[in-house]
Amino acid sequence: MIVTGVIFPVREAPIDIIALKSDMQARANSLRHQGKTIALVPTMGYLHEGHLSLMRLARDMADILVVSLFVNPTQFGPGEDLAAYPRNFDHDRELCMGEGVDILFHPEAGNIYEPGFQTFISLEKLPVYLCGASRPVHFRGVATIVTKLFNIVKPHVAVFGQKDYQQLMVIRRMVQDMDMDIRIVGGPIVREADGLAMSSRNAYLNSSQRPAALSLSRSLQQAQALLESGQTDVAALIASASHLILSFPETAIDYVAICDPDTLENIKAVTLPALMALAVRVGKTRLIDNTMLVPPQSATS
Ligand code: PAF
Repeated sequence: MIVTGVIFPVREAPIDIIALKSDMQARANSLRHQGKTIALVPTMGYLHEGHLSLMRLARDMADILVVSLFVNPTQFGPGEDLAAYPRNFDHDRELCMGEGVDILFHPEAGNIYEPGFQTFISLEKLPVYLCGASRPVHFRGVATIVTKLFNIVKPHVAVFGQKDYQQLMVIRRMVQDMDMDIRIVGGPIVREADGLAMSSRNAYLNSSQRPAALSLSRSLQQAQALLESGQTDVAALIASASHLILSFPETAIDYVAICDPDTLENIKAVTLPALMALAVRVGKTRLIDNTMLVPPQSATS
């Protein structure tokens, strides 16, 4: 017998929404006491397929999946988009339910940063480069909130996106330097069909800005193609990428860099796999993207 047209109901698991850090800590303690492992995906909400891919990775790594949703004020500098940062809690909760998230930790800023708060985590070197050069307080805010989330959620494993490559490096370094007993996993960049790296900030783009936004991923692809055709000189690769980006209206380059993927220090020639990272303003929207440039000889060796 062939059965057609059977519609299976969408199963949405119940989700616990926890607002207070003391409640989250108590739950984490109880879960650990029961021998459960915890995976954390930290987010600032306005979730998209990139976040969901991190949740799917994390889901398979532990018994309990916690997603935190907190727009962290300490990682925004003066004049940045903290107040305007897109938010849609109901939609985020639905998406988390669809991914089988067990706990959504959604605290208020006043609960996370209590009156008198004055302790920050900052790294000496990695934050100097790339985004840190134009966003001087950003990685101090990221390292601080991630440390706090680790102390509150007590995860065994935490998953971060590779689109924020520098952030991932900062967190890995911090975890190693501070002897935090947490496994850090990086999830691959998820792109729209046209190549645009997924970002909550893409919501700011209007339809006429979209082609300009695509110049980021196109310039990364172009650099890899030039490298494969024999151009290893970093200055020349950066010049070509900048030319492509600036050929679109409303673009302004924050940085285009090709650097050592471990230290983030600039290099002069691409003879080994190197990180190419860029930050570009399209209108008022600041977008980032990156790729690993792989010279042909190291791809085959
Ligand atoms: O990548 C982000 O969304 C944020 O920087 C993070 C890691 C959630 C910290 O606020």
